[in-house]
Amino acid sequence: MSQNILITGAAGYIGGSILADLIARSSSLIKKANISAAVRSEEQVQALSKLGINVLRLDLSDEKAVAEAVIQNQIDIVVHTASSIVGSLALNLIKALGQRREVSGDQVYFIHSSVTTMFSEEGGWPFGEVRDTDDLLGQEKQIEPGNPVRDSNILVTEQAKILGVTSFIVVVPYTYGRGTGECKKLSVNLSTYIRTSIAKRTVYKFDKDGNPPTAHISDVVALYTLIIMRILNKDLVPSGEKGYYFAMAHRYSWWNVMQRIAEAMHARRLVDEPEAKIWPSYEMAAESLGYPLLYMRAIGTSTGELVPVNAYKLGWNPKWDEEMFMNSMDDEVLAVLELDTAKASIFDTLLTTSN
Ligand SMILES: NC(=O)c1ccc[n+]([C@@H]2O[C@H](COP(=O)([O-])OP(=O)(O)OC[C@H]3O[C@@H](n4cnc5c(N)ncnc54)[C@H](OP(=O)(O)O)[C@@H]3O)[C@@H](O)[C@H]2O)c1
Repeated sequence: MSQNILITGAAGYIGGSILADLIARSSSLIKKANISAAVRSEEQVQALSKLGINVLRLDLSDEKAVAEAVIQNQIDIVVHTASSIVGSLALNLIKALGQRREVSGDQVYFIHSSVTTMFSEEGGWPFGEVRDTDDLLGQEKQIEPGNPVRDSNILVTEQAKILGVTSFIVVVPYTYGRGTGECKKLSVNLSTYIRTSIAKRTVYKFDKDGNPPTAHISDVVALYTLIIMRILNKDLVPSGEKGYYFAMAHRYSWWNVMQRIAEAMHARRLVDEPEAKIWPSYEMAAESLGYPLLYMRAIGTSTGELVPVNAYKLGWNPKWDEEMFMNSMDDEVLAVLELDTAKASIFDTLLTTSN
């Protein structure tokens, strides 16, 4: 029997790229699955409708509407990229999958998207080196609640278990490269720095370097697809408390990246100097970038001693490395000039609650 897939955040950078990848696949298991995409505006419905899939305009905060969408469209697998932050949206989807399981009697799956920064010291992680095979749920529960990403991870894993839903958490790093979705094709990170640098005619970096985990969008998408394929194949893969997947392909130095961006932008006459300068203050950085001040240090300077194990054990084989990334900096600038049309909404919730 075929299993049907719902992607939330399908107008977004990662969700849109996952959707494009699934549609392009020739696997008979994917071809047999009905693919639904959840978006939140009529404009996005129109943009995705031409793809020949089932597009749903769905308010994920409406528990009843979410349950109806999952039951009516016979959804077995939800790939949730709409929010790492608002746990209640994930909970509505998990509850709906629980109901679907009761109706169909078949196993149901929830793939959540989280954030690697929360496993760094700057992101409030007190335990140092961390493998995705460690008891992450147990460790996350030892930390004071209040971090929305961490609280969502705990909620997802615990509630999915209670409701009989098999859960996975893809822990997404800073993601770069051009997305392949219909709407947002840019990642929030570099595009925001580049846009702000254009406005200020100066590239800024923070007073402290960071070496965070990262991955190209095509590699991040490949990990989601790998997990989906394993589910469709009915393979037994780590899930629930053991189902954290650090999608880390390599690292980079923020200072080196900002320096390369300064050179690329200067060559295009977009900034006045070919050198990155230090932000005068974190307050000015937060205001200029439109990021929540509370998380500015974590976003701009974190490193984290993350060790990815689960994804590689599954056969994930990222193609992009640090050298390729550093050599792609001019294209990151060009992508912003060519594609920067949609306003990023990724930090909207944090901005209203934390500044
Ligand atoms: N990009 C990265 O480098 C990165 C790094 C770490 C983690 N992540 C996580 O990965 C996930 C996807 O990121 P992304 O870069 O693809 O973000 P994105 O481009 O902003 O996409 C998110 C999509 O979800 C939609 N959405 C947001 N809140 C929603 C809500 N309450 N109800 C329904 N839809 C909602 C947005 O709708 P609108 O288009 O209408 O705004 C957008 O289309 C996020 O959870 C993010 O935290 C991303």
